[in-house]
Amino acid sequence: MSTETPPSPESPKRRKVTTARLAEMKARGEKIAVLTAYDFLFARILDNAGIDVVLVGDSAANVIHGFETSVPITLDQMISHAAAVVRGVRRALVVVDMPFGSYQGNSTLALESAVRIMKESGGHAVKMEGGEFIAESVKRIVSAGIPVMGHLGLTPQSIYKFGTYVVRATTDEEAEQLVRDAQLLQDSGCFAIVLEKIPAQLAQRVARQLTIPLIGIGAGGGVDGQVLVVHDMLGINQEFSPRFVRHYAHLHDVMKNAFESYIADVKASSFPSNDESY
Ligand code: KIV
Repeated sequence: MSTETPPSPESPKRRKVTTARLAEMKARGEKIAVLTAYDFLFARILDNAGIDVVLVGDSAANVIHGFETSVPITLDQMISHAAAVVRGVRRALVVVDMPFGSYQGNSTLALESAVRIMKESGGHAVKMEGGEFIAESVKRIVSAGIPVMGHLGLTPQSIYKFGTYVVRATTDEEAEQLVRDAQLLQDSGCFAIVLEKIPAQLAQRVARQLTIPLIGIGAGGGVDGQVLVVHDMLGINQEFSPRFVRHYAHLHDVMKNAFESYIADVKASSFPSNDESY
């Protein structure tokens, strides 16, 4: 038995997470923990905590830029967020969402966008939404040496096609299409797939059928890992609380109380004190 203490999450000795390590984790049944980040300090804290994958999600459109959907965020904005995240991460795998308009319907454009993300942000992989219609792009990007994560089920970039954010693949026909799409993404070279807001039984079936890791959000516990938007799980975002979000903190109230105390101190001239002055 080894008496060596395992390296702490902050130790540079910890093995870096790669796509190959994620495959090993699936093979040995170790669950994969994924959270989003959009800036340097959140990324640094997540990495210090031991997160496996940091996703620079296009949910930045909602939680950082205040847009109603993820559609408006641009490739330049995603690259800027991703570069900040990469500077904060020492161990985790950094996956960057390809935003709406940077790949749909054009595999040459898709490859150009993926190359820009990799070169300009230093990210380690890209993520794309969709099934059959992105298969050719996935193949071209993977052949260029860029790992691709797929995203099926609820695909927020297509919100105007579907009109709602309700649970997806609830009919037999949609479920079978999703199973086919997942298999096709694996065959096209994806190293993992996010499954968003689909019935837990279906997600488990796909996770068992595929050899690559399936990361769920609102897809139950039978998949290989979980992802949440960091502002949701920290309880910063009070305007979004679907049942799949577990709140690990209630930072909205903590932050609001701190802001109120600061405002009161400034108004009462009790901040700064002499100790806080030069
Ligand atoms: O943009 C995002 O944060 C995502 C996750 C919700 C999977 O795609």
